[in-house]
Amino acid sequence: MSLMSTVPSVPRRLVVSGAGSGIGRATAELARERGWSVLGLDLAEDRRAGIIACDITDEGSVRDAFARVDEVWEGAAPDALTHCAGVYRFRPALETTAEAWDAVLAINARGSLLVASAAARRMREGGGGSVTLLSSIGAARGDAGEPSAAYSASKGAVESLTRQLAVEWGPYGIRCNAVAPGVIDTPMTTVSGDPGAFEQVLRRIPARRLGTAEEVARVCLFLASAESAYVSGTIIAVDGGQSAS
Ligand SMILES: NC(=O)c1ccc[n+]([C@@H]2O[C@H](COP(=O)([O-])OP(=O)(O)OC[C@H]3O[C@@H](n4cnc5c(N)ncnc54)[C@H](O)[C@@H]3O)[C@@H](O)[C@H]2O)c1
Repeated sequence: MSLMSTVPSVPRRLVVSGAGSGIGRATAELARERGWSVLGLDLAEDRRAGIIACDITDEGSVRDAFARVDEVWEGAAPDALTHCAGVYRFRPALETTAEAWDAVLAINARGSLLVASAAARRMREGGGGSVTLLSSIGAARGDAGEPSAAYSASKGAVESLTRQLAVEWGPYGIRCNAVAPGVIDTPMTTVSGDPGAFEQVLRRIPARRLGTAEEVARVCLFLASAESAYVSGTIIAVDGGQSAS
C-alpha cells in the first residue's frame, strides 16, 4: 500500500467566515494571493470582496449561505473552511447575565458547529477536507485585565468541539484543527483602561508586540492546505510565546 497522501497538493476552494474584518479578511486575501478560490461569509454581503451574507448563529441563514456557495462553485465541495467569525465582549463574570452569556456562546460556540457542519456535509460528499476553527489564548488562561467569562468559556467549547469533530469526521477524510491566537492587532482588540494597560499587555507577551492578522492567516492556511495533511485534532497557539510563559 502506498503511504503517499491522497490529499490534493494544489489548493482549490476555501470558505472563510468573518471575512469582512481582521483575521478572516487577512486569510481570504492571502489565500487569493496563493491561488485559492475563496468565498467569504459575514453579516454584511460584499460582492466585490466575494462575501456572502450569513448570520452564523442562525441555522437557516447558514443553510442559505452555503446554498449560495454551492451555486457559485456549481456543486463542488469546499476543500477547506477557516471559521473566523466571532465576537469578544468585555464583561466580568459577576456582571454576566444569562442573556449576555447566551449571546456570546451563540456566536462563538454554536456558530462554530453550524458553519463547520455545513462545510463538512459537503466535504464528506467531496471526499474530504480541512476545517479550522478559531479559539483563543483565553480558552486556557484566565484574563485579569479584560475579563470576559462568556468569551473564555466559548473558546473552551471551540477547543473541545475541535477534538470531537476531528474524531467524528476523520473517517470521512476531514481534518479539524483550531488556531488559538494571543493578542492580535485587529478591530476586535481594544486594550482599554489606564494608559499603562498597553504596556502591561506587552509585558505578558515574550515577543513584546501584538501579532498581526496576517501572521494568524499564514497558520490558518497551513492548516487548510495539504502541507498539514496528517495534522488533526490539534490546537496551534499563535501568540508570540504568551501561553508558554
Ligand atoms: N484579535 C484577537 O486578538 C483575537 C485573539 C484570539 C482569538 N481571536 C479570534 O479570532 C477570530 C477573528 O477575530 P478578529 O480579531 O479577526 O475579529 P474581527 O472583529 O476583526 O472580525 C470578526 C468578524 O466576525 C464577524 N461576525 C461577528 N458575528 C457574526 C455573526 N453572527 N455571523 C457572521 N459573522 C459574524 C464580524 O462581522 C467580523 O467581520 C474570532 O473568533 C476571535 O475570537 C481573535
